Amino acid sequence: MPLLPTGLLKPSSKVAVLTGAGVSAESGIPTFRSNGGFWHQHRFEDLATPQGFARDPKFVWTWYEERRRAIAIARPNAGHYALAEMEKRVASFTLITQNVDGLHDLAGSRNVIKLHGDIWNVRCLKCGQEKVDRSELADLPPHCACGGMLRPGVVWFGEQLPPGSIERAEAAVRAADLLIVAGTSAQVYPAAGVIPMARAAVEINPEETEFSTEVAYSLRGTSAEILPQLLP
Ligand code: OAD
Repeated sequence: MPLLPTGLLKPSSKVAVLTGAGVSAESGIPTFRSNGGFWHQHRFEDLATPQGFARDPKFVWTWYEERRRAIAIARPNAGHYALAEMEKRVASFTLITQNVDGLHDLAGSRNVIKLHGDIWNVRCLKCGQEKVDRSELADLPPHCACGGMLRPGVVWFGEQLPPGSIERAEAAVRAADLLIVAGTSAQVYPAAGVIPMARAAVEINPEETEFSTEVAYSLRGTSAEILPQLLP
């Protein structure tokens, strides 16, 4: 267990948090790039690009539907709950997440910016309607009432982030006294680009990242272990 800096957060603190797949690892959801991560078993070009989807929508949907079913039975862990509690205890709080699993919502976080969308959303390629659909999608690829094909409501490589989301994330990071970076390899941009904008940052990750030497505190451990200990 790393030595934790004391008094890092106070009730008067303005906090921004950037999370990635690692915060859901202890809820049983695999990450993308750590051992056993998705991108060690699959090519991201096939599963997480518009081109991959155009080539084989059924293959892409089968993978997303498997993930949706695994996420449907996952519960938030102590890290998610600590962030929901932190939001209540500090002066201002913005949670910026790259995760699409919705576990921050389930834990009770309110001010959440989802940079990469939400796996429970589906969007019609014909009429453009986006809606929440948590049902089991039996007939893949699924279709909209208008007849158009639906796609997962997530952001793929090469696509724009949801309108205004990165601007809101950057503004929250610049306004914060502290940015907590938890469970991300910080390799995907523009999400990782907010880290250098922080006045001060603390990283929580069992592994080193490219930002480990840049941040004020690099805490080696898991988010479920460390985040509860940062609560003011
Ligand atoms: P990665 O899989 O790239 O990184 C996960 C990070 O979490 C690694 O640095 C791990 O060391 C760390 N980690 C593992 N277990 C942890 C734990 N229990 N507590 C804390 N940290 C832990 O996932 P992301 O950084 O989220 O995008 O990846 C960013 C984006 O790349 C994803 O949103 C996804 C992916 O491709 C798209 O699909 C567009």
